[in-house]
Amino acid sequence: MRTLAPRQIQEAAHGSLTGDTRMWKETMTARLRDAHRTRDRLIAHARLIQREGGWRKTAHGRKGAEMRGFTKYTAEEVRRLNRLQAEYFGENVEIFEPPLPEGVPERLERIVASASIVPGDSVLDIGTGTGILIPLVQKYSPARIYANDLSEVMLEFVKTHSPSVIAVQGDVADLALADGSIDVAFINACYPNIIDKHRAFTNVRRMLRIGGRLIISHPLGRSFIEILKKNLPFPLDDFPREEAEASEMFAPYGFRVSLFLDEENLYLLRLTAEDCGSRKLCT
Ligand SMILES: C[S@@+](CC[C@H](N)C(=O)[O-])C[C@H]1O[C@@H](n2cnc3c(N)ncnc32)[C@H](O)[C@@H]1O
Repeated sequence: MRTLAPRQIQEAAHGSLTGDTRMWKETMTARLRDAHRTRDRLIAHARLIQREGGWRKTAHGRKGAEMRGFTKYTAEEVRRLNRLQAEYFGENVEIFEPPLPEGVPERLERIVASASIVPGDSVLDIGTGTGILIPLVQKYSPARIYANDLSEVMLEFVKTHSPSVIAVQGDVADLALADGSIDVAFINACYPNIIDKHRAFTNVRRMLRIGGRLIISHPLGRSFIEILKKNLPFPLDDFPREEAEASEMFAPYGFRVSLFLDEENLYLLRLTAEDCGSRKLCT
């Protein structure tokens, strides 16, 4: 199997190299070689985990039929896969830096605009990575921005570039911000990576106020995940393919689908937090 570095993966999705990217390629060869070494080591690690029992367990109903829903993992698998991701991303910070592929900056603007942030809002960027959304969010004058990531290295990078953000390290499933304290949350290019989605979406709904928005997006489109799946050392989930599927998946967590866009190069799902009364889940 041919494996690609993250930048090559972006290019594969776009078909051709931009001038900036060609220059980037010429100057980054040594760094990429290091990244490849890290990735190969992590792939070996992932194969070991697979041999020890596999990581994908599909939920089955009483008749044995596959159920729609999130992949289930044991607590130990969640810990190990999260550690693996934190290590992978922590060792590859630089290859997530600009120049971004053509069209991505504009699509990121659209993603942020879809959240209708108003001055004074509290915004949470889940799986912030290098904080690519932060400057775009700052244009809307929120009162505070929380940047969350598994990787301490990513957060150090974000704090250097955007000192005013509040960095919160760890799995979003464990974030302990106050109930109803968040107006807008983003999960950009990170939905497939969240291992324990049941706990994550229960927790995000708890932190969002009623009427708050959760934006799940990818600026290279849903199909991009297929390319990543072949090249990353940890499992990635697909995005919901249809609005009805998204509604069915997220209604139990207290979310209504208020926007669904599935364009070739842009995936954008906006969920609005509903009132669940005193129930933990809205079922
Ligand atoms: C592909 S990067 C995307 C970063 C950024 N959102 C962007 O658009 O460039 C995914 C990031 O999500 C983080 N991540 C993955 N699972 C997470 C989780 N459960 N909680 C918090 N961060 C997570 C990873 O550490 C990584 O930095």
